[in-house]
Amino acid sequence: MLINFRNFFVRKSLDQIKKDSETLEHRLKKVLGPVDLIALGIGAVVGAGIFATTGTAAAGSAHHLGAGPALIVSFIITAIACSFSALSYSEFASMIPISGSAYTYSYVTLGELVAWIIGWDLILEYAVGNVAVAISWSGYFKEFLRGFGINIPSYLCVDYRTAARTPEIIQSAPDIFGLPLIINLPAVLIVAFLTVLLVIGIKESSTFNSIMVIIKIVILLFFILIGAFYVKPDNWTPFAPNGWKGIMTGAALIFFAYIGFDAISTAAEESRKPERDMPIGIIGSLVITTLLYIGVTAVLTGLIPYDKLATAEPLATALNYLNLNVASGIISFGALIATTAVLLVFQLGQPRIFFSMARDGLLPKRFASVHPKFKTPHVTTILTGVFVAFFAAFVDINEAVELTNIGTLFAFILVNTGIIVLRYKEPNRKRPFKTPLVPLIPILGILSNFYLMISLPWVTWIRFGFWLLIGLLIYFSYSYHRSKLRNHYTVKK
Ligand code: ALA
Repeated sequence: MLINFRNFFVRKSLDQIKKDSETLEHRLKKVLGPVDLIALGIGAVVGAGIFATTGTAAAGSAHHLGAGPALIVSFIITAIACSFSALSYSEFASMIPISGSAYTYSYVTLGELVAWIIGWDLILEYAVGNVAVAISWSGYFKEFLRGFGINIPSYLCVDYRTAARTPEIIQSAPDIFGLPLIINLPAVLIVAFLTVLLVIGIKESSTFNSIMVIIKIVILLFFILIGAFYVKPDNWTPFAPNGWKGIMTGAALIFFAYIGFDAISTAAEESRKPERDMPIGIIGSLVITTLLYIGVTAVLTGLIPYDKLATAEPLATALNYLNLNVASGIISFGALIATTAVLLVFQLGQPRIFFSMARDGLLPKRFASVHPKFKTPHVTTILTGVFVAFFAAFVDINEAVELTNIGTLFAFILVNTGIIVLRYKEPNRKRPFKTPLVPLIPILGILSNFYLMISLPWVTWIRFGFWLLIGLLIYFSYSYHRSKLRNHYTVKK
C-alpha cells in the first residue's frame, strides 16, 4: 500500500469509537464509581514523586540547581500547570468514556498519526514512569527490611550505572558468564506480583488500591502533624537559594509527583457513570494531592537545612536528623505502600492504552483480546509487566524520571490542543463536562507544560527524540498499513 499524506489526518468518529467499545468481544466490565476513581487518581499520584524526588529537587545535585524551601512554590506552579490540563482531560474523559486516554482523544481530534505518536509517547508516562517507581519501591523495601536486620546484598538491589561508580558492589557480585550479576531484584518481583493481580481482575485490584490510598493519606498527614512540632522557621531562609531557575528546575522534576491524575481517564470505559464521575475523579484527586504536597514540603524544609535533603528518602532523612527514628520507620513503611499503589495504577493503565491501539489495528490484534474468565486485557497486561520489570532491573532512576516527565508533558500539550481543535470541528457535540474559557485554559496548559519541558536537561530531549523516531518507524512499517479505520470504517478527513 502506498503512503498517502492525507491518511495521516484520518480521524476516528466519536460515535464509531463508542460503538467499538460496545462489541461483545472487546467489552470491559463497568464496575467503577466516583470514589473508586478518586482513589485510582490518588493511588497514581502520591508516590515516588513526594517520597523521593522532593529531596534532590530541594537540595539540587551535580546536574541541576535545587529549589530550596521555595520548592513549595515549585509545587504550586506545577499544580497550576496540571490543573489546566486536568480540565482538558476531564472534558475529553466525560465526552469519550473509552479506555485509551490521550491516545483516543487525539484519534478523534488530531488524526491517526498524532494518535499513534501520543500512544507511543504514553509508554513513557506509564511504563517508563513505573520503571522509576519500581526502582524507588525497591530502595524503600531494602531500607524496610534492614530495620528488621535483613540485608539484601547491594548487587541485587542496584542499577548498572550506580554499581559502576561503586567498586565494592561490583567486587561483591557473583560472576555469570564472566559478567558481574547486577540486578534490581525487588523491583522485578513487585512488578511480577502486581501483574498477576491485574490479570485476575480490576475490581479486586481497585479495592486493594483503595486501602493503600487511605494508608498513604494517613501517613502524609502523620508526617505533617508530627513534623509541625519540630519545624524551625530559620530553616526556611534563604527561601529561594537559586532564585527562579532553581524553582523552575524543581518544578520540572517534581512534576513526576503529579503524574497520574490523567490515568483515571484510562479507566473511563470501566466507569459506571463517566459523564459525572470522570471530572470528579480527576479534579478531586489533583486538589487533594496538591494540599498534601504543600503541607509536606513546608514541614520537610522547616525540619532540616534544605541542602541535607539530597537522599533517596528525604522524609525519613529529615526525621532521622531529629532522632525521630520510630516516626521515620513508619514513614518508610508508608512510602512502600504509596509506591505500590502507584505501580498498580500504571500497570493498570498501560495495558488499556495498548488494548485501544490494538483494537484500532495499530498494534497486533492479539493485544485486544479479553481474558475469557477474568475479563481483563491479559495479553497487554503481561506485556507491560515484562517491559517494566526488564528495565527496572537495570536502569538508573533519575533518567527514568526525566524521560517520564518530558513524555507526559508532551502528551498533556497534545490533549490541550485536542480540546481546541474539537471545539472548532465539532462545536455541537454533547460535552457533559466543559472546560471553562476555551481556548484560554488549554492555551495556558500548552504554554505552561512547554515551559516545564524546557526546564529539563537537553540529554532528556535527545532521548525523547530517539523514542519518537522509533515510534514513527513502527508506524510507517506496520501500523499505517494495518489501521482498521481506513480499511473498515467511514473515513473522516
Ligand atoms: N506521581 C507518581 C509518583 O509520584 C508517578 O510516584
